Amino acid sequence: MGYKSIDFETLGDDRGSLIALEENYNAPFEIKRVYYIFDTKENVTRGFHAHIDLKQLAIVVKGSCTFSLDDGYKREEIILDNPNKGLFIEGLIWREMKEFSPDCVLLVLASEHYDESDYIRDYDDFLMEVHK
Ligand code: TYD
Repeated sequence: MGYKSIDFETLGDDRGSLIALEENYNAPFEIKRVYYIFDTKENVTRGFHAHIDLKQLAIVVKGSCTFSLDDGYKREEIILDNPNKGLFIEGLIWREMKEFSPDCVLLVLASEHYDESDYIRDYDDFLMEVHK
């Protein structure tokens, strides 16, 4: 599957914790865009798309949420509930994000600028793309 979990080194002292994300180091691509999702309403599921050519690194900096990832053959669920863990996604992966805690802040680093033409928003189109 085109995803992996990345454990970040936490730099901590008696004042608290700090994590640094660096391009082509613990964030394994050139970072062109950063966005964050917050104040997600209860029982909302977002996403429902795949990307043709995008690398992303998702970090829940506060709270928790669940990623459902589908490569066209199988579906797996990944719970993000710790800011020291990132979820790196590349290639054709259908993604849905759900079970957001009320305090969840989901930060996403992306390898490209926003481009709607890179999205596959129809699941049957996604399956056709995977199997072609
Ligand atoms: P959407 O793709 O529906 O979010 P999700 O996949 O998390 O459910 O995005 C919501 C809106 O924000 C949509 O109108 C597209 C816009 N958008 C941008 O303008 N730039 C971005 O980087 C992203 C991720 C979304």
